[in-house]
Amino acid sequence: MSMDTALPFISHGKGINVWDESGKRYIDASGGPATFCIGHANEEVNDAIKEQIDKIAFGYRAHFRSHASEDLAEMIRTKAGGSLNHVVYNSGGSEAVEGCLKLALQYHTAQGEMSRRRFISRERAWHGNTLGALSVSGFLARQEPYFGSLLEASLLSPVNTYRPPAGVAPENVAEYCANELEEEIQRVGAETVAAFIFEPVVGAAGGAVPAPESYAQRIRDICDRHGVLMIADEVMCGVGRCGTWRALEHDGVEPDIMSIAKGLGGGYVPLGASVYSDRVAEPIFRVHGAPITGHTFTGHTTACAAALAVQKIMERDQLVEKVATDGVYLRQKLEETLGQHPHVGDIRGRGFFQGIELVEDRETKEPFSPNLTMSKRTFDTGFANGLIVYPTPGNVDGRKGDQIIVAPPYNATREELDEIVALLAKTIDQTVESCAT
Ligand SMILES: Cc1ncc(COP(=O)(O)O)c(C=O)c1O
Repeated sequence: MSMDTALPFISHGKGINVWDESGKRYIDASGGPATFCIGHANEEVNDAIKEQIDKIAFGYRAHFRSHASEDLAEMIRTKAGGSLNHVVYNSGGSEAVEGCLKLALQYHTAQGEMSRRRFISRERAWHGNTLGALSVSGFLARQEPYFGSLLEASLLSPVNTYRPPAGVAPENVAEYCANELEEEIQRVGAETVAAFIFEPVVGAAGGAVPAPESYAQRIRDICDRHGVLMIADEVMCGVGRCGTWRALEHDGVEPDIMSIAKGLGGGYVPLGASVYSDRVAEPIFRVHGAPITGHTFTGHTTACAAALAVQKIMERDQLVEKVATDGVYLRQKLEETLGQHPHVGDIRGRGFFQGIELVEDRETKEPFSPNLTMSKRTFDTGFANGLIVYPTPGNVDGRKGDQIIVAPPYNATREELDEIVALLAKTIDQTVESCAT
């Protein structure tokens, strides 16, 4: 991988701040890629990592069990709730999604339904960089180099009330998009469909876009009626980021399978998990004995010890509850400061996962020309100002559209949130100005 030599070298971090080697401070308002959920350099987590490494870094899962991995699995089961009682660990989000896709296929194989091999997903969705996860993603720029080698998948309309499908009123988006799923299942034949995968709140490909009320309930019902499994990709929006531990909790819906990663280890270690229900587990264990997936580092002991420490802090300090409350505060601040900005078309999201869509014209929703690379420009201006936000382009049609995600660590104080919003407003103004010159 080539490195961008224009980037500064990282020096250290503390809480929501990071410093480069020149001594410049940055407010990490996006928690990196919506990952650093308890901030940087937490001593308790670092101690837990050291304690584990001093004993042993990694006990290979085919030879030993470990308390770290079993205690973390128990924590995940408890937090996920309902019948999501089973966990396969992996090393990040793409692997977690890959694991979910494979669990769905294995379930149908075990059920004797080998014809169910197809996945349905949505445009403007990001599920990861491994070939399977990339195949079900709707992110043109990242897929294009691999066209011809991707799995065939059905991609439905994005679910976005600010940019609804042509001719659909915002209030009808949930019904229209849910119907689209059912029509696609019927078109290809339910007996060929393994699962529908979606992000409950779209991240990297949309800019923190929650589905409207009733959408998740409707697709749950459609999946059930057609024997199609529901996979919730909660890699970015899950593990508390939206103010509930599972993002879909908000909708009162339980998926059959769910991917989690970023917030699980809080960025201290690479770790992901594919979580699945009793219903999915039953035939898999009965017919095959166990999920047939996994990697050398599955359940890495130090990774699990670090994530367990992160999750214990989230629980003890009630950080998910804090995100629910302070997410409302953050949103209010964003609305107050940017809600009437001539180049802010939409502010949306949930909890500490807020998206701001930048537009050329607020009235017509006309996006900026993609040649201006507005989201990247905003990131660059923010970076120069000592503010880190997460830029996402392409929400309109895969190329046009500019969004900025604000996703601070869950323990950011209200003063820090104020500072983020003030710096972001200044950054957006400067970025717009820079285009005029
Ligand atoms: C929703 C979602 N799924 C999967 C992934 C892939 O995760 P990773 O980059 O850790 O492989 C991401 C990464 O941004 C994501 O946002």
